[in-house]
Amino acid sequence: MTSAPSAAAQPTTAQPTTASVARRISVVGGDGIGPEVIAAARQVLDATGVALDYIDVPVSATRYLQTGELLPDADLETLRGTDAILFGAVGHPEVPPGIMERDLLLRLRFEFDLGLNVRPVKLLPGQSSLVSTATPETVDWIFVRENTEGPYVGTGGRFRRGSEHEVAVQDSINTRHGIRRAAEYAFGLAESRRGKLTWSHKTNVMLHAGGLWADVIAEVATLHPGVELEYQHADAMTIHLIRRPQDFDVIVTDNLFGDLLTDLGGEIGGGVGLMPSANFTPGSSLPGLFEPIHGSAPDIAGQGIANPTGAVLSAALMLRALGFQAEAASVEQAVLAAAVAGGLSGSTDRVTAAIIAALV
Ligand code: IPM
Ligand code: MN
Repeated sequence: MTSAPSAAAQPTTAQPTTASVARRISVVGGDGIGPEVIAAARQVLDATGVALDYIDVPVSATRYLQTGELLPDADLETLRGTDAILFGAVGHPEVPPGIMERDLLLRLRFEFDLGLNVRPVKLLPGQSSLVSTATPETVDWIFVRENTEGPYVGTGGRFRRGSEHEVAVQDSINTRHGIRRAAEYAFGLAESRRGKLTWSHKTNVMLHAGGLWADVIAEVATLHPGVELEYQHADAMTIHLIRRPQDFDVIVTDNLFGDLLTDLGGEIGGGVGLMPSANFTPGSSLPGLFEPIHGSAPDIAGQGIANPTGAVLSAALMLRALGFQAEAASVEQAVLAAAVAGGLSGSTDRVTAAIIAALV
């Protein structure tokens, strides 16, 4: 009687598994300190052992000034063909305001339907906040900002220009679909953390937009009975975040309120300089975009002193979105350990080395 062939006896030359195929990452260093912090993030990514192929995409305000090209179709298609975009910072004092914002950053959010802007805010040990209620224990939040709707859509216009009767219209566009995907992600995230979700809007004034948000939040809440839900108007939220930071964990809100609340949150959490962000839609086949919240900081560019923590933490969010949960957690843990050991200050190289040394 022959025994069943063991697994080891099976041919091993068959199909490659997905795990053995390197993920393709578009790298947009951008301007100023962007390329410096992204180089640091890449060193940390390489130290995790995850197989990644990098494709440099030379999008920047500097190139725009030189050639007039901001996001040519060829670059857009390169980005589209990769699994994720690691983004530094773009901006140059000579580019008039609004161009990089609308024609690059927002365009990428719309082109790749990046429905969520997830912004963890954690006061790291050893970092100080200007807000006295903020400690590493009280400030540990994740903002889930809707990322493709609200006034950011850009519908409307200006009419009767220059006259006393000039009219400016900027509509807030809100869809059930857009709100639902933010809400579903936020409830799921809350379930995986403390079971606490706060949502914020101005339902007392923005009756139509706020009304749809309230309806969708209530619908999604019925699927997550274990999550404790709190609502705060966005103006009051600015007070509550400072007065009782410990009461918040996951916070979901619309695009514009999210823009404001994450700047405030980041500052409470020790400054937006160290904060990461993830722009993505769960389950999408389009690439997500991962970037530190800070700008290109031309005043300190080229000196090797930019703090790469926001870029490194953004790279961790990228790893998580790509399915490398354990590696993402190790990078976050390493940043925390480096913070505890006082390693998050000094030159870019010193901080990077401290984080890599703390990787387990
Ligand atoms: C941000 C920025 C952008 C925004 C600008 C630069 C378009 O402030 O990512 O928070 O308003 O969303
Ligand atoms: Mn902002």
